[in-house]
Amino acid sequence: MKTQVNTQVVNICGYGREAIENRIRTCTRWLGRQVCFYDETDSTNERAKQAAVGGTEDGTLFVADMQTSGKGRRGRQWNSPAGSNIYFTLLLKPKFPPDKASMLTLLMAYAVWQGVAQYTPCGIKWPNDIVVKGRKVCGILTEMSVEQGRIQHVVIGVGINVGRQEFAPELGEKATSLEQECGQSISKTELLVDILAKFEAEYEKFIDVQDLSGIREAYNACLVNCDRDVRVLEPKGEYNGIARGITDTGELLVELADGSVEAVYAGEVSVRGIYGYV
Ligand code: BTN
Repeated sequence: MKTQVNTQVVNICGYGREAIENRIRTCTRWLGRQVCFYDETDSTNERAKQAAVGGTEDGTLFVADMQTSGKGRRGRQWNSPAGSNIYFTLLLKPKFPPDKASMLTLLMAYAVWQGVAQYTPCGIKWPNDIVVKGRKVCGILTEMSVEQGRIQHVVIGVGINVGRQEFAPELGEKATSLEQECGQSISKTELLVDILAKFEAEYEKFIDVQDLSGIREAYNACLVNCDRDVRVLEPKGEYNGIARGITDTGELLVELADGSVEAVYAGEVSVRGIYGYV
């Protein structure tokens, strides 16, 4: 767990382009060395995609203190008030084939899990939500542009609920924040930079093997769905089973009542706990 030292960092370095750049300089080798910081923007994913088309370099980081049109998965909104949370997007221009890109979301989830776990016990709800005591504290939205079978860019957007806040009634018991759960003040700069350093380390290994074999065991160890009853919601129908962990390519293995095992691909599928969100 982080100690008082972290609380002091909050006061010393604040949150902004300069603070992030200063910390990143000593923590990553190349990722996030270019930072675009917005006090307010529509969506850091939109900023990153627009910049990518304009030629902005691989590894550039887009961070906002507030988003007016924060985007979640499945066309949902991501509530993004000022002052409390982390909203960032990484722009990547990988050379691997487009079918590998969905694994980056799980890789990022594992990096965020490592960062958050320093403050409070947490888990991953497949494929990429970080949960604390069964409630979501982080969501990840990955978007990709492909031309003539080649990746032009991938943007990985991450929203982390850090400060105490009121959540919309429709989120009910589903969402919480880190400070609410761990009762400690958290430096957004420190947490963000930590996550980037962890992602960079995993991403460099991923580029070599182009699968998740390097993190599979560790990912499964923090998977909250593992060995639990889940309901799989596919476009063609719904069914129940027991989640048994991920494959090397990030599909969730679900054991059915007859003993057969389905490999569930994240794209169009949603997995819920039988008794609630997890
Ligand atoms: C989810 O629905 O779980 C994914 C939420 C992703 C939110 C982040 S916040 C930073 C980035 N910019 C966006 O508009 N969305 C992502």
